[in-house]
Amino acid sequence: VAAQSKLKAIKAGKVIDVVSGTVLNQQVILIDSNTIVNIGAGLAIPANAEVIDLSNATVLPGLIDCHTHITSQPSGDYYGDIFRKTPMDYAVTAHIYAKRTLQAGFTTCRDVGAAAFIDVALRNAINSGEIEGPRLQVATLFIGSTGSHGDLNGFSPFLSFQLPKEMMGVADGIDALRKQVRYNIKYGADVIKFGAGAGVLSEEESVGAPQFSLEEMKAIVEEAKMWGRKTCAHAHGTDAIKQAIRAGVASVEHGSFLDAEAIQLMKQQGTYLVADIYNDDYIMSEYKRLGYPQKILDKEQLVGRTQRESFAKAVKGGVKIAYGTDAGVYPHGWNGKQFYYMVKYGLTPIQAIQAATINAADLLGWKERVGSITKGKWADIIAIEGNPLDDVTLLEKVKFVMKDGKVYKNELKK
Ligand code: ARG
Repeated sequence: VAAQSKLKAIKAGKVIDVVSGTVLNQQVILIDSNTIVNIGAGLAIPANAEVIDLSNATVLPGLIDCHTHITSQPSGDYYGDIFRKTPMDYAVTAHIYAKRTLQAGFTTCRDVGAAAFIDVALRNAINSGEIEGPRLQVATLFIGSTGSHGDLNGFSPFLSFQLPKEMMGVADGIDALRKQVRYNIKYGADVIKFGAGAGVLSEEESVGAPQFSLEEMKAIVEEAKMWGRKTCAHAHGTDAIKQAIRAGVASVEHGSFLDAEAIQLMKQQGTYLVADIYNDDYIMSEYKRLGYPQKILDKEQLVGRTQRESFAKAVKGGVKIAYGTDAGVYPHGWNGKQFYYMVKYGLTPIQAIQAATINAADLLGWKERVGSITKGKWADIIAIEGNPLDDVTLLEKVKFVMKDGKVYKNELKK
């Protein structure tokens, strides 16, 4: 009976082969439980396999967003989000965003900062099949220095959150930072995220200045490595970016003010650039209405355009690019919107798709598992109508989603 059969066969009209960068026609993809067991033209379909007809569609590996904050998004009440909500509020709604993200075709995300270990709980509930969502690699607490982008700034020093200090992710000095890394890992971090420099959506003065010393950054990266974890750094400013690269991070997040030396260093060290070059549009058009202070809008004004120009320079310079959008800054489920900008600022459509598949899988250290439709990998497969190499915005309208061999969406059924 079909219900008992664990074999599935996808008949694909076209497949984007992200490894070779070519389009394959009329492929059959065989899936056993959660694994891709074969792909090819004219493969025999076993009689007991459930056939999924995507012969009028273009099939791709599940997309990967390397920079999300899947547990939250702005509600429209800036101060309420900070002062009237508890982690429990965020915890009860996180599953909604996880589902929207998966439905948009993003079958894997690296979530780079969440309060109170909500990301760990979400990851575990998704893995156990209780909740629909992408596979998650989670960073848990953003590690930042006192007064940094990761701290809460601009308010009275008499405010107190009554949390154990470690649960703020705020730490200074080598010993405290090593301890914070250990603490994050102890409670579930798959990856370590720290703030190398200042940020936009926070109330400290600068947008780009370094916020840890090189020695502090090195201690974080080294400690994480000791525990088998990669590190990524939030960095907009040139010096913050360079220090983070020198400290040995796997990826620079944002990367807004790149200069020639930063690009050179990234190439030398194989550092990935994960640049969120869509969300400036959303912030500039919506964040006033959402109650964000003018100070933050002014900071965005400084960053948005330059970040896109830096991205174009990095592409020209041959820096490795992985797809990351900062979802949660804009509504979850819109993750595909950034493809358009990545093509506008220098990638070819296939390169943009590779950034969100094989490159992203490489950055996550999951190249053996996800990122391409290859024998032996997990069956994370999506489909769209039309050819994304002609129009990359088609990736904003994903019609079919399979994760781990299970179909979560199919609008292509005849
Ligand atoms: N989380 C980032 C920050 O606050 C968002 C930056 C958004 N702006 C941009 N142009 N990418 O720094």
